[in-house]
Amino acid sequence: MAIDQSVEVDGDKLMQFVFNAVGEVGATLNAALVVMGDRLGLYRALAGTGGLTPAELAERTGSAERYVREWLNAQAAGGYVTYDPESGRYTLPPEQAVALTDSDSPAYLPGFFQLALGSVIDSPKIVEKARSGDGFGWHEHVHDVHEGCERFFRPGYNASLVAEWLPALDGVVEKLQRGALVADIGCGHGSSTILMAQAFPHSSFVGSDYHEGSIETARRRAQEAGVADRVHFHTASATESSGADYDLVTMFDCLHDMGDPVGAARHVLGSLKPDGTWMIVEPNAGDRVEDNLNPVGRAYYAFSTLLCTPASLSQDVGLALGAQAGQARIGDVVAAGGFSRFRRAAETPFNLVFEARP
Ligand SMILES: C[S@@+](CC[C@H](N)C(=O)[O-])C[C@H]1O[C@@H](n2cnc3c(N)ncnc32)[C@H](O)[C@@H]1O
Repeated sequence: MAIDQSVEVDGDKLMQFVFNAVGEVGATLNAALVVMGDRLGLYRALAGTGGLTPAELAERTGSAERYVREWLNAQAAGGYVTYDPESGRYTLPPEQAVALTDSDSPAYLPGFFQLALGSVIDSPKIVEKARSGDGFGWHEHVHDVHEGCERFFRPGYNASLVAEWLPALDGVVEKLQRGALVADIGCGHGSSTILMAQAFPHSSFVGSDYHEGSIETARRRAQEAGVADRVHFHTASATESSGADYDLVTMFDCLHDMGDPVGAARHVLGSLKPDGTWMIVEPNAGDRVEDNLNPVGRAYYAFSTLLCTPASLSQDVGLALGAQAGQARIGDVVAAGGFSRFRRAAETPFNLVFEARP
């Protein structure tokens, strides 16, 4: 395409844009380097040491010094580690140590990068789908997408689900404490289901997801957590998940991934007790595109292009809400499913938490 010669190009703005893009290329490649550091144990070995040389870090992690040295220089250039030219040692500052090694911290990042890297690995397939308009199912992605998703969301659920989100729902915690029946639909690897089961020992939980591989992992996680007697996982789509008379139905970061969210809403309504509650956790987003043109919106629109929109388009109906649907659009889906009450109960920078009642 020819460039319109009548439009004046500001050379300084052009160079600024190019310099910014250099930073972005470094950031893109850094997703692979963070996953590499996580897998090789480089961050964990550096944490709390007060500084190591590449040879010392390589030795402690059983890695090759030449690779470790190059990786450390990339990490130093990106501000992930600091470098002391006098001693030739590299240090992981305490804040970076929390974000890169403490999987219980809400600031934990490796899962976010693993999810991003998995999405990029699968992106050539999405390019083809963008030509044809076909979808690409969640189950078709590389394992890094499934595991990265679990590792990204779990720290946020760990920090907020029991402490803030459930108490923000009307009367739900009291029911869970007494003993309630809960369905967690689209549960993936089951981290939300297991966290709730650990917090409420008198309640029973049924986790479901249409992806069989995720359900197998969820079952293993429940065994490891010692809650398998009260948590049952089964493979089912949201429009056919089994059971009735639930006190609480939950959906964590999955309603917008579904092809038929209105059908799913109708199914939830039919499976709830008359005074039951549907908790919907969705990515934080404003209703208008211009509300979401910020760093969180940027990451979520990107995930939405590569993961969520193709996932919905791969299923019946293919409504494709997208990961930045916003409260008004989610409210429309809930109302179309037959619910009469809907409100925002809580939020974090990453999530909106809605309460829907029959
Ligand atoms: C972004 S992941 C979230 C997984 C999990 N809830 C979590 O928060 O870690 C979306 C999940 O929705 C599931 N999913 C997508 N469409 C579904 C459907 N129609 N019925 C049931 N599960 C579905 C996917 O298999 C995937 O596990």
